Amino acid sequence: MKPMERPAETDTSRISITAYQTGYTWVKNGLSHAAFATIRGRAMYESLRPMMWVSRNLLGISDLETRLLQRHLIIDHLLSEAVEKHGVRQVLELGCGFSPRGFRFMERHEGRGFTYVEADLPAMARRKREILRDAGLLGPGHEVVTANILIEKGAESLRDLIGKRFDPACPIAVITEGVVSYFDAPTMRDFWARLARLMAPFPAGFYFTDNLSADIPPRAAPYLRLWQTLVGLVARGKLHAHFASDEAALETFRRAGFGSVAVHRPRDFAGRISMPSADSVGFLNVIEART
Ligand SMILES: C[S@@+](CC[C@H](N)C(=O)[O-])C[C@H]1O[C@@H](n2cnc3c(N)ncnc32)[C@H](O)[C@@H]1O
Repeated sequence: MKPMERPAETDTSRISITAYQTGYTWVKNGLSHAAFATIRGRAMYESLRPMMWVSRNLLGISDLETRLLQRHLIIDHLLSEAVEKHGVRQVLELGCGFSPRGFRFMERHEGRGFTYVEADLPAMARRKREILRDAGLLGPGHEVVTANILIEKGAESLRDLIGKRFDPACPIAVITEGVVSYFDAPTMRDFWARLARLMAPFPAGFYFTDNLSADIPPRAAPYLRLWQTLVGLVARGKLHAHFASDEAALETFRRAGFGSVAVHRPRDFAGRISMPSADSVGFLNVIEART
C-alpha cells in the first residue's frame, strides 16, 4: 500500500511536531547533540517557558521540562539495568523522534556488537537519519527505520520490524517514550498485545514506556486540562491518561501478554538517578513490562 493510500486513522504524523520540542529540551539539558536544536523546537520550548514557570513556582506542580527529564532519565536507567544485569544487546525505540538515546547508547557501548534500531513515521525517520548522518552520529549497528506502531502487517509494521531486524535468540528491549499518551486505550491495548506476542519468542523481553497517570490530585487538574488543550491544538488530538490506578496498569499489561509489570515513579529513584526534584506534584510514571 502506498503511503498516500493509507487509511487516515493510521497516519498520525500530526503528532510528529511535538518531537521538535522534546528534541530541543534534550539539547538544552546537555543530553543531546546541538544538531537536534532546531529553530522550531526552540520556538516551542521558549513559548512554553511562562507556563512552566507558573506551574513550578505558583502551583507547585511538576512542570513539563521536569517531567520530560524524569521520564527520559528513568528509562535510561532501566535500560542500563537491562543491559548490565540481563544481557540485553538489542534495543528498539519506537516513535524515536529526536531522542538522543540511540546515539548515546551506541557511544557508551561502542565495539561491543550492540544493535540499536530507532523507528518513526516516514518523514520523522528520514529527518532523524539525515541529522544523525550529517553530525557523524550514525555508526555500525545503529539505524533509523520507518515503522508505524498502528500498522499490523507489511513493510511499516511492528511485525516486519521485529521479525527482520532482531535476533530472537537474544534478549530484547523495546521503548516508547512520549508516545502512548497520544493514543486512546483500545488502540494502546491492541498495540501492547501485538508487542507482547512479538517479544514472546525472545529469551527475555523488556518494554519501557512513560505513562500519564490518571490519579491526579485536585489542585493539578485545571493545569492538566490546560496542558491537554494546548497539546490538543499543537498535535491535533487528545492526550490520554490510561490507568486510574497501578492495579489497572498491571492488569492491562498482564492481559496483553506480559509476565511481570512494575510501575515506577520519579520518587522511587531519589538518590539513585541525578534528575530534577521528584518532590512536586507529578503525574508521570514509567511502566516496565517484561515478557
Ligand atoms: C512526543 S514525540 C516523542 C519523541 C521521542 N520519543 C522523545 O521522547 O523525544 C512523539 C513521536 O511519536 C511519533 N509517532 C506518532 N505516531 C506514530 C505512529 N503511529 N507510529 C510510530 N511513531 C509515531 C512522532 O512522529 C514523534 O516522533
